[in-house]
Amino acid sequence: MKITTIILAAGKGTRMRSEVPKILHEIANRSLLQHVYDTAKQLQNNDIKIVVGHGAELVTSALKNLDAEWIEQIQQLGTGHAVQQVSHQIEDDDIVLILYGDVPLLKIETVKLLINNVNEQSLALLTVDLANPTGYGRIVRNEAGQVIKIVEEKDATEYERTIKEGNTGIMAVQGKPLKKWLGQLNNSNVQGEYYLTDVIEMAVADEFTVITSQPQTEDEVLGVNNRIQLSHLERVYQQEQANKLMEQGVTMRDPLRFDQRGEMVTLGQDIEIDINVILEGKNQIGSHVKIGANTQIKNSIIGDHVEILANCVIEDAFIGAGSRIGPYARLRPESVLAENVHIGNFVELKKTTVAAGSKINHLSYIGDTAVGAQVNIGAGTITCNYDGVNKFKTIIEDGAFIGSNSQLVAPVIIGKNATIGAGSTITKDTPDNQLTLSRAKQMSIAGWQRPVKKEK
Ligand code: UD1
Ligand code: CA
Repeated sequence: MKITTIILAAGKGTRMRSEVPKILHEIANRSLLQHVYDTAKQLQNNDIKIVVGHGAELVTSALKNLDAEWIEQIQQLGTGHAVQQVSHQIEDDDIVLILYGDVPLLKIETVKLLINNVNEQSLALLTVDLANPTGYGRIVRNEAGQVIKIVEEKDATEYERTIKEGNTGIMAVQGKPLKKWLGQLNNSNVQGEYYLTDVIEMAVADEFTVITSQPQTEDEVLGVNNRIQLSHLERVYQQEQANKLMEQGVTMRDPLRFDQRGEMVTLGQDIEIDINVILEGKNQIGSHVKIGANTQIKNSIIGDHVEILANCVIEDAFIGAGSRIGPYARLRPESVLAENVHIGNFVELKKTTVAAGSKINHLSYIGDTAVGAQVNIGAGTITCNYDGVNKFKTIIEDGAFIGSNSQLVAPVIIGKNATIGAGSTITKDTPDNQLTLSRAKQMSIAGWQRPVKKEK
């Protein structure tokens, strides 16, 4: 059995008031269309076809890596017309699944249920009971409770408008009958559109049973038409992410103030996450890790018993077990810290390895540097790694002590157990075990007097 999934995504999205096509707007850093695609991709033996129209070029170039076929619907003449564009590619015994590119949170379980309801003589339709069904096509049933048709709101009678069961637009059916019905669609309705929903009445006429199922929550089938709905679904999605983490044993100080814009690849035990934490990309977080408020972590690996204090920004970094970071630290890409490293406030690291037990506690920039073990880097130390054109490397060997307010002008090597006097500008390699300092000699001028104001 082969599935052909058709994702309808040609609509304009006027109410987004955006230059960006609606389906490229994002939830958790992933476009709406990507969410739908990722769900569809979980089905085995599935050919995905995406019908695009408005902003087709932007959409296909933004999402060119999708393993799907793009089909252009030049004029948007309705949902039925959109599916007709794919008709010639549908095989008779395919199961055709129709999804919407602007309905991002549909669950794979719901889709599987729908597909299981398809057979030679049945069409599967996803419907939803709505407190306020305004705008939705209504599911019309006969006295026996069987679906006989869908009527669009604009075409509905007063009675039909009182029906609370709405059409989600999502359905599945075999290819052969679908192609036949698509060939029979017309646009004689209030909107002058080719409605996909008209196939329901045709199916009933051909003695098909319409088997309905419902999503677990209404949010699963909500579409995005404006930025208010976009923000609503972002929060729904984030609440789900927070719930998943809590179910896996993470303590969250406030799941409403948490954002996961990527995925947790591995997760240890007894992690604590304070408020306003943003996790991006792929992260691996070990056991007993504490993440402080307002911290952003992207594509990083964090060892056991690491404590990240408030207001840190961490990207493409590796933090060894037992290390303590922040508050207000910035670990830029390729920061690699061994065990029990301390990185304190207003410290920026880039392309730097720090071996076990070393401390960089205050106000420093350390870039393109290899820091040995048990090194202490004093407040205000700067590695001058850039001459405006080229970058150079600094090496600080084990046990070195760098006095506060020092500049290490790369390329330079600070020897093992070397001490650098505070306020030094180091331009040459320094020997092991010795004190090196470069400082103007301090002097005092005897009898010197402060200037006084002249009398007028
Ligand atoms: C459609 C359904 C309605 C259902 C509602 C659920 C029809 C006739 N009506 O209504 O019963 O309750 O969805 O949200 O199917 N699209 C195209 N090409 C087109 C027209 C639409 O690709 O020519 C795409 C849109 O981009 C969108 C989806 O199809 O992803 C639905 O289109 P939309 O205009 O929102 O449908 P509604 O009129 O709201
Ligand atoms: Ca809609």
